[in-house]
Amino acid sequence: MGGKKPGEFRQVPGERSRALKEDLFRYESAGTFWRCTYDSPERLPVFERMAGVSVWDVDGNEYIDTYGPFAASCLGHAPKELIDEVEDQMRTLMHISDMPNVPRVQLVKELVGIAPGDMKEGRVHFEVGGGPAVDLALEIAEYATPDPQHDIISFFGGYHGRTIGAVSVAPNAYFRERFPSIANRVIRVPYPYCYRCYFDRQYPDCELYCLKYLRRMFESPEYGIYDPVTRTNLVSTLIIEPAQFHGGGLYPPKEYFKGLRQICDDYGIVFIDDEIAIGMGRTGKWFCIEHYGVTPDLITVSKALSGGVWPLSAVIGRRHVFDAWADRPDKHMGTWHGNAVGCRAALTVIREIKRRDLLQRCEEMGKYFLDGLRELQGRHRLIGDVQGLGLGLGLELVRDRKTKEPADEETVRVLSRALEYGVLICRASYYGNRMTFMPPYVIERSEIDTVIDVLDRSLGEVERR
Ligand SMILES: Cc1ncc(COP(=O)(O)O)c(C=O)c1O
Repeated sequence: MGGKKPGEFRQVPGERSRALKEDLFRYESAGTFWRCTYDSPERLPVFERMAGVSVWDVDGNEYIDTYGPFAASCLGHAPKELIDEVEDQMRTLMHISDMPNVPRVQLVKELVGIAPGDMKEGRVHFEVGGGPAVDLALEIAEYATPDPQHDIISFFGGYHGRTIGAVSVAPNAYFRERFPSIANRVIRVPYPYCYRCYFDRQYPDCELYCLKYLRRMFESPEYGIYDPVTRTNLVSTLIIEPAQFHGGGLYPPKEYFKGLRQICDDYGIVFIDDEIAIGMGRTGKWFCIEHYGVTPDLITVSKALSGGVWPLSAVIGRRHVFDAWADRPDKHMGTWHGNAVGCRAALTVIREIKRRDLLQRCEEMGKYFLDGLRELQGRHRLIGDVQGLGLGLGLELVRDRKTKEPADEETVRVLSRALEYGVLICRASYYGNRMTFMPPYVIERSEIDTVIDVLDRSLGEVERR
């Protein structure tokens, strides 16, 4: 069809995309996500096929995809190994609902096997999709602590999905607007977004003031959650991402999670580590929290777990936490839980990550990508901050490196330009001025080079305007 290759300019959307999208505008709910990407709802093309790390639109244009469909497509787009296994599973046993099946049996063992610390003796509960896994984790946590009056600590900039439970614990005011909520039970505190410290401190001189702030909340009943005299404790659960990706690719300092773990231990709080976006190998370890030398109580996983085939999710947890509902069968079930096709996909993902040593590859390629972004930072005044671990990276644009004024409009322009040069990049963050990169683990150096080159040109064009 004569479409353009990544790096070449194309008109976006092309004519066929524009025509097809008319029906989306006519019939689909206006509250969908894709309408707020890029500079207008018209902008995104309609996609038709995919392979490797590329996707093609209906006008035949190829794009390198650094979204990795929201971090799920870890083995790349439509990988043969995954398709073969899933096809075989569909022919053998496709759907037996929330009942024992062979891949499910194998997967629970594999998942505790790759889990950190004493979770290796732990348990697994399946769900479908990230938001529902977060709700499930919140439910288990409630059971694992004795007092029924339980509050939840969550973090500014956090994202846990759009079910009512998940949207309630995350802070975003727009996402929560008008929806029913468990919000009166949530205490939201600053995340260590060190480039824009909420307390205007500087790491490491701050000595992790954000942790001190959190600990102080337990010093007096007047701070609302704990009475040290009567030991009245209103907090059951703490939920946090080990790196915020809706927040823009933000990684806390090295010592942060040890301090957080200590607070949870001191006050009997269940520590939920939401690894839905960043877990399953992306950072070079199975779970991002392992970089911090900490074992949480519950880990939520989804996305890369089933490689983009089936929306499988799971909560992996320490045995004593799960055993809080040992005498409570059917506390949480679902038609699609432990689905054989999803479990077979997840088994294939784990097998391929091990067989092809993709943890090591994520680390290597991630470093190469990070170096490329840092090199761009040296040449482009708009880039204020670059962070990354493995193939989970974030970059922030500012108008002035001293004042750090967020360059939100410039970010939209850079991303729209990159789209026209055939690279898909996700916009994220507190101020709409960060971009995140979560490509498939199989991305090649040459593809990273194209992304860096396109960013270089797009940034240059926007800076010159
Ligand atoms: C950290 C985190 N938790 C939960 C979710 C929700 O997952 P889902 O979109 O599958 O409901 C997301 C989605 O982006 C996420 O990044």
